[in-house]
Amino acid sequence: MQNEKGITSVLNERRKFKPSPAFSRLAHVKSMQAYKRLCKAAERNPDAFWASLAKEMDWFSPWKTVCDWNPPFAKWFVGGKMNVAHNCIDRHLIGWRKNKAAIIWEGEPGDVRVLTYQDLYREVCICANALKSQGVKKGDRVSIYLPMIPELAITMLACARIGVTHSIIFGGFSAVALCDRINDASAKIVITSDGGYRKGEIVDLKEKVDEAVLKAPSVQRVVVVRRTGIPVAMKEGRDIWWHDLMKGMPDRCKAEALDSEHPLFILYTSGTTGKPKGVVHSTAGYLLGAMMTSRWVFDLKDTDTYWCTADIGWVTGHSYVVYGILANGGTTVMYEGAPTYPTPGRLWEMVDKYHVNIFYTAPTAIRALMKLGDTWPKQSRLSSLRLLGTVGEPINPTAWTWYHKVIGGGRCPIVDTWWQTETGAIMISPLPGATETKPGSATLPIPGIFPEVVDRDGVKAATNTGGYLVIKRPWPSMLRTVWGDPKRYEKQYWSDFPGCYFTGDGARCDQDGYFWVMGRVDDVMNVSGHRLGTMEIESALVSAPAVAEAAVVGKPDEIKGTAIVAFVTLRSGQQPSDALKAALRAHVEKEIGVIARPDDIRFTENLPKTRSGKIMRRLLRDIAVGRETTGDITTLEDYTILAKLRQDED
Ligand code: WTA
Repeated sequence: MQNEKGITSVLNERRKFKPSPAFSRLAHVKSMQAYKRLCKAAERNPDAFWASLAKEMDWFSPWKTVCDWNPPFAKWFVGGKMNVAHNCIDRHLIGWRKNKAAIIWEGEPGDVRVLTYQDLYREVCICANALKSQGVKKGDRVSIYLPMIPELAITMLACARIGVTHSIIFGGFSAVALCDRINDASAKIVITSDGGYRKGEIVDLKEKVDEAVLKAPSVQRVVVVRRTGIPVAMKEGRDIWWHDLMKGMPDRCKAEALDSEHPLFILYTSGTTGKPKGVVHSTAGYLLGAMMTSRWVFDLKDTDTYWCTADIGWVTGHSYVVYGILANGGTTVMYEGAPTYPTPGRLWEMVDKYHVNIFYTAPTAIRALMKLGDTWPKQSRLSSLRLLGTVGEPINPTAWTWYHKVIGGGRCPIVDTWWQTETGAIMISPLPGATETKPGSATLPIPGIFPEVVDRDGVKAATNTGGYLVIKRPWPSMLRTVWGDPKRYEKQYWSDFPGCYFTGDGARCDQDGYFWVMGRVDDVMNVSGHRLGTMEIESALVSAPAVAEAAVVGKPDEIKGTAIVAFVTLRSGQQPSDALKAALRAHVEKEIGVIARPDDIRFTENLPKTRSGKIMRRLLRDIAVGRETTGDITTLEDYTILAKLRQDED
């Protein structure tokens, strides 16, 4: 809800949960005083603060300048050379961690693979040599379109080892979306598989790659992991099986000494235009952010079994399934399939089986599992859990309470972590041994991060007054640019509030300085914890021959957070029908992927527009939820449309 200058906040939750002394005693950050000391140190001398932390990584040559800030472009640890794969693997081989489990993987059918750090080292070296044998060099891009199987982590680390920039595309994206992303990055190689398991079925990925690569001239090779064994077409001269390619490759491969600023990966995320942005992350600064937050926020220790349920196709999987955890020498659990397969008890059975200590998931998953009842978690022993985390959207207090009581047995702190693809690492979150939590609040900034809630003029908003969430200083794991489009980087993130990074989120700060993130204030929706631009879905809809115009809005949904509602006007001669609705939903799935399929399509003769031709989404949002239209409609071009749209609902 918007008012003149800011945003009105409606949530009012008053409970507080103190960290238990038993937890605090053993935590990395043991008290509020310790947390404040870190914050003070960062405030006083940010360069010295980050430099002291960066020393915990292995460097091939030291940096000369900690931060080179040429707004809005930042460089961190300038002049230093290091390697992310070396920091995530090699340095752990020297001591006792050599034979420690790095990755515990479980496939949906129940197959298990455990890779020790030494195993991972060998596999990554073999894969890196294989990539080199195909002609990829430092600076090239490789697109990865794989299910959650160990080869996904192996490939990313192999790329990191030789300085190849990876671009992972979530397996739920369509061939069209995949093609756009391969082309934008001009990837030379695509790595995929003959499918993966999801809800007992095989998700075909290779077919989508075949379709995508037809229109992606940069691709020279498609490497295919055999996961399911289903027959797939292999194109002579272009496609090669992973196992054939790896055969005979040496199991040693030098980790390249890379510049701190070398682009580690590109990850595409939705924005307010129809075209997704390729968010670029660096080497040293990114890893530092992922590593330190894994330690501070998850209180990760060598004895922990840690499990983040996110797919590596999203940033959470990059930072908190792979890089941040392995950089600390942790044990990370990776699961291929659906959380409710073959029963709604699957996740809890796995917590029990592997004695998971730290569990990190999304509110949408918590809500869905909560709805299925307490009997499922009650069938498993969850007593190994000591910390729970959430990410992706605000967690509503009901889901928070269920997570706390039923999953955490009332004993585990919950870290509600706020961050973004662009921020690379967690920015606002409790530190579990230090911060008193309040359900629904991501609480306080990570040491070294300086967020603020401001009004439209960039002035700090008063306590408990909604406004825009900005970050006032650069930080090591911040995105460096939008791939191939530095102007868009500048405009998107740095032009609304001069000197500050604008997150696109609305928030308020309470009397204790706690941040309450309220969600996006731009045309980006948060559907099941995934970001989707309304424009992207609209572009997909209007690319269907029957459609003249489309406007997409979000509507609150109990499980998904936001459901997608599309208002569609048809070209003349086209008749609205249920069959057409189904066809349009399928069309969006084909253009973007199943995650973007509208939940509801409403045909209308016209869309409400301002006199200058802008679609009035606010009105459509009201109509989507059946709310009486409030606020100003004086700019509406044609008042009769509103009445019509309401009639159409009945
Ligand atoms: C939202 C996911 C409230 C927010 C890591 C942000 C959250 C967007 C939280 C980024 C949270 C993420 N509380 N909202 N704890 N975490 N968000 O890029 O709107 O997929 O801007 O990164 O998710 O989504 P992204």
